[in-house]
Amino acid sequence: MKFYTLKNDLNLPAIGLGTWKSEPGKVGNAVIEAIKAGYRHIDCAAVYGNEAEVGEALKTAFAQGLVEREDLWITSKLWNNAHESDKVLPALQKTLADLQLKYLDLYLIHWPVAFKADVGFASKADEFLSPEEAPIINTWKKMEEAYNKGIVKSIGVSNFSLKKLKDLLVDATHPPEVNQVELHPLLQQKELLEFCDTNSIILTGYSPLGSGDRSQDMKKEDEPSLLENKVITEIAKKHNCSPAQVLLAWHLSCGTAVIPKSTNPKRIKENLESYDVSLTNEDLLKIKSLDKGYRYVDAKFFEVPGGPYKNIYDE
Ligand code: A2P
Repeated sequence: MKFYTLKNDLNLPAIGLGTWKSEPGKVGNAVIEAIKAGYRHIDCAAVYGNEAEVGEALKTAFAQGLVEREDLWITSKLWNNAHESDKVLPALQKTLADLQLKYLDLYLIHWPVAFKADVGFASKADEFLSPEEAPIINTWKKMEEAYNKGIVKSIGVSNFSLKKLKDLLVDATHPPEVNQVELHPLLQQKELLEFCDTNSIILTGYSPLGSGDRSQDMKKEDEPSLLENKVITEIAKKHNCSPAQVLLAWHLSCGTAVIPKSTNPKRIKENLESYDVSLTNEDLLKIKSLDKGYRYVDAKFFEVPGGPYKNIYDE
């Protein structure tokens, strides 16, 4: 196992189990299988709609003595409809109740985008709250309050561009420990990574395998495949491992955490075994050349006509 020590001296396990897109009915078993396989980091979010089942699985894992609470790292995320100051702590309490936990190891602002409180997923301009109506710093102050109360041991953000991260650092009293973003060889985010390294912020990569199980409406035509990329498959062949393991080992070589999603016990185990894959400098140079700033999750779904959010990633 590999850990990254955060600014608050807590150790984040480098590989975690992703639960985005893990269907109800399958996610609980995935969590149990992951813990049995040796995972000590589970990545959750209120909007994934499966935290109650994850919570049941965690309860079972603790009851069966598979792991102790203090040896597990549980992350969750504040959804966009709870950015207003009076909504943050109740949303966190709901997540804690669903997960059947007294505290989280890490709580993230899921997106730098705010919806009105009663909106699950905004699709029309008047369902959003603009950055002026719901300034991110006000939401962050509530995250800091949760941290100061000890309900969350670390706080951070997700999907924050370099610009948004820099802006937050100007006003934050307690700077974020983590920024969770899409990260893989086609989107290496060099500048963001360098900035995070300099500021002791850990980057966690989502969609490390290309998230092929996204719903059809989130996909573009002719998306490039990471798992079938020629450079990746050739490196995998050379190391006698799978393409997924190459993609995950690449994260470890970059010093980034990574949260591959799987509900398949064999692949859950395989993904953790990426710790055993040592990429050579030659492999890393080849992978470096794959960067083309390609996003599977382009966030265009937040850019509605007349709406307050444009160019979420500031590119
Ligand atoms: P499954 O859940 O059936 O294993 P990402 O983490 O980038 O979001 O990608 C998740 C997708 O990758 C899911 O479709 C998942 O399917 C699949 N996947 C997870 N692990 C592997 C693996 N080791 N090899 C191939 N596909 C994988």
